[in-house]
Amino acid sequence: MNEIKLFCTATIANVSCGFDVLGLALDNVGDEMIVRKVAKKGVTITKIVGQDLPLETHENVAGVAALALLAKVDADCGFEIEIYKNIKPGSGIGSSAASSAGAVFGINELLGKPFSNHDLVEFAMQGERLASGVAHADNVAPALLGGFTLVRSTEPLDVIKIHTPKELYATVIHPQIEVKTSDAREILRSSVALKTAIKQWGNVGGLISGLYTEDYDLIGRSLEDHIVEPIRSILIPAFDNVKAESLKAGALGAGISGSGPSIFALSKGLEIAKKVGEAMSAVYDKVGIEYDIHVSKINTEGIKIIK
Ligand code: HSE
Repeated sequence: MNEIKLFCTATIANVSCGFDVLGLALDNVGDEMIVRKVAKKGVTITKIVGQDLPLETHENVAGVAALALLAKVDADCGFEIEIYKNIKPGSGIGSSAASSAGAVFGINELLGKPFSNHDLVEFAMQGERLASGVAHADNVAPALLGGFTLVRSTEPLDVIKIHTPKELYATVIHPQIEVKTSDAREILRSSVALKTAIKQWGNVGGLISGLYTEDYDLIGRSLEDHIVEPIRSILIPAFDNVKAESLKAGALGAGISGSGPSIFALSKGLEIAKKVGEAMSAVYDKVGIEYDIHVSKINTEGIKIIK
């Protein structure tokens, strides 16, 4: 096999209570990527369609992630990468992660899988470092492993795939404004009061437990963020209203997707998830900012091979 075509899934990081540690993969939103084995060593980004992003390998998240992998393996060939972007950078649904994870996944396949998907997380994180200045793993982990993931630790890296309840669906509204992850990180406080931390880790534990036991009410009760959301939500027009209307429409919970501006909700069943999408649209129609709505089941596979 000399060429592979991939669906590189969009992801929701943080999932309210789990800043930098929790993430999930979406099923029907993502980029496409072609990775090709070539005689010339190294990594060349030959084409990017859909977004204006750097082709220079060291300036491109896919290029940097690919080089991190190739530094750990003795490959007698090189790779070309074509990226077809559907996920806008600065959208909050893991644009840089889709490219970083896609590149390492594709190269690993073409090399005959010297690494496990867990191993690939470390390489893909280098793309995230280029994109935001921090090698966070909460988007690349679900992109590579699928489902929900928990990044228990980054040093050393310890990523756990979490059970996904069968009837869980995500609804995402993506307002067409850009929020850079680096900016959204800069406004955060560096310390947290103990009483706030107590509420937060109660919710993280509750969410993990709710996912494993498929306890939808517990999942809903645990989708609370006392640390990041109160600060970042000011960057997102009508955030409080979108959240309130989503809950009224039947969502289990809602919050900021990654570093925003996208807002996500989780629901039990497709019908409710669609109603939540309508409720989100109704709010944004009044705001007057263009938006996209995505309704997706949770993608338990992660990146998919198209051919
Ligand atoms: N955990 C990261 C953040 C995710 O919220 O900054 C960015 O998509």
